[in-house]
Amino acid sequence: MPKTRSIRLFVLATLLAVPAAYASELKGDAAKGEDLFMTGACPTCHSVVKDDELKVGPNLFGVLGRKAGDTKSLMGPSENLKKYGVIWNAETLDEFLANPDAKVPGTAMIGVLADPQQRADMIAYLSTLK
Ligand code: HEC
Repeated sequence: MPKTRSIRLFVLATLLAVPAAYASELKGDAAKGEDLFMTGACPTCHSVVKDDELKVGPNLFGVLGRKAGDTKSLMGPSENLKKYGVIWNAETLDEFLANPDAKVPGTAMIGVLADPQQRADMIAYLSTLK
């Protein structure tokens, strides 16, 4: 292969490898996160009140530090969420909220937050629920 071509390919590969922004590298604002939570679709499916299991999705009280798929809800955790089984922290929540279906195929969780700053704010809010 001519040398210039392999250099060009190398440059292209480097450009494609620019890392995506992760919410865990941004500073989250819990008040903004709460606003986003309350005015968005989240409360339709999630309670933030301790021991309230009467919603479709898992209660998010105390979500940071607990294991995925371990919390009771009306619907119950999916098999794939149980298999996923991560401990929820800023990093795992960031990955999940960016695209729940990519981490937990077929999940009924539809709360996607594409904006890393919004994810950082949401995670800051969720971390206050304890
Ligand atoms: C249509 C209902 C629905 C909406 C709206 C929704 N979720 Fe969910 N969410 C679920 C369900 C159901 C699960 C459990 C998924 C599974 O078992 O695969 C879940 C799981 C989660 C989990 C993991 C909880 C755990 O203990 O494992 C988090 C965190 C979460 N949702 C956050 C949010 C946020 C933040 C929003 C709003 C941006 C949101 N969800 C909107 C239904 C919903």
